[in-house]
Amino acid sequence: MIDDVQVVTVTGAGLPACTASPARDDIPRNSCSAPIGIFDSGIGGLSVLRHIRAQLPCEELLYFADSGFAPYGDKPESAIIARSLAVTDFFVQSRAKALVVACNTATAAAIKFIRERHPALTVVGVEPGLKPAATLTSTGTVGVLATRGTLASSKFTALRDRLSAETNVRFLAQACSGLADQIEKGELQSPATTLLVRRYVEPLLEQGADTLVLGCTHYPFVRQLIEEIATRISSRPVSIIDTGEPVARQLTRLLTERKLLNGSTDPGSIQAFTTGSETALASAFSRLLHLQPEIHRLAVAA
Ligand code: DGL
Repeated sequence: MIDDVQVVTVTGAGLPACTASPARDDIPRNSCSAPIGIFDSGIGGLSVLRHIRAQLPCEELLYFADSGFAPYGDKPESAIIARSLAVTDFFVQSRAKALVVACNTATAAAIKFIRERHPALTVVGVEPGLKPAATLTSTGTVGVLATRGTLASSKFTALRDRLSAETNVRFLAQACSGLADQIEKGELQSPATTLLVRRYVEPLLEQGADTLVLGCTHYPFVRQLIEEIATRISSRPVSIIDTGEPVARQLTRLLTERKLLNGSTDPGSIQAFTTGSETALASAFSRLLHLQPEIHRLAVAA
């Protein structure tokens, strides 16, 4: 049903107002049958959605790609906070029982404000998997691939400093400007993407990293390319850390604890929303996950 496009308005910066949403007045707030909202600046969050879908196949999922404002990674923190709150309000009006911030940049900048504004909402974020990486590394050096925004955030630097002090592991941060854009364009193996990945990964391996953390939800979609390049460059095996699966597990744990799991045995539906191109989002769902959800385009008011 990808041609069933509904136009919805969500305001840009500042406090949001939705003129429409998949509001389900028939669903009481915080009920088991309510949907789970998942969002990212674009298609990166699909790398998290696939694990949520695998672990919770009967849940109704709403996916929000804020592609009209992508990329988030190079934007000021205040803009990311405003967008994240706008998207969260959209989900709350849609009666979502839980929110997954499937974006490291948005989690780092905004999760605290989302929780403050919606204390009753179950909120799960993603952050670079430094802890599992510290356990896995044999060389004691870990490379972290993420956006500039994530790496500059106080949330990330606090986690890195605490873990380096506790474990003695060296974390090398590598901002990957432009890589999420290549993935948005569907260029998962192109010469330009290969060049970019090589430019970001090579210095980390040369400095002794044997573990690479995918600290942006877009990067699992170029995991194969990263592995190929790492195998070519490094003389030792290189481990890759992706946090999509643990995030889905954390969501499952919280919904179970709060008695919010959907008891249905029917497969849950997926609806997707984008502030960018609906055909691009439909194509990403189909190419990356073999799913054909209903897509709604959101008109963004300035
Ligand atoms: N997928 C997002 C993340 O995990 C960021 C990509 C972007 O720069 O928009 O950080």
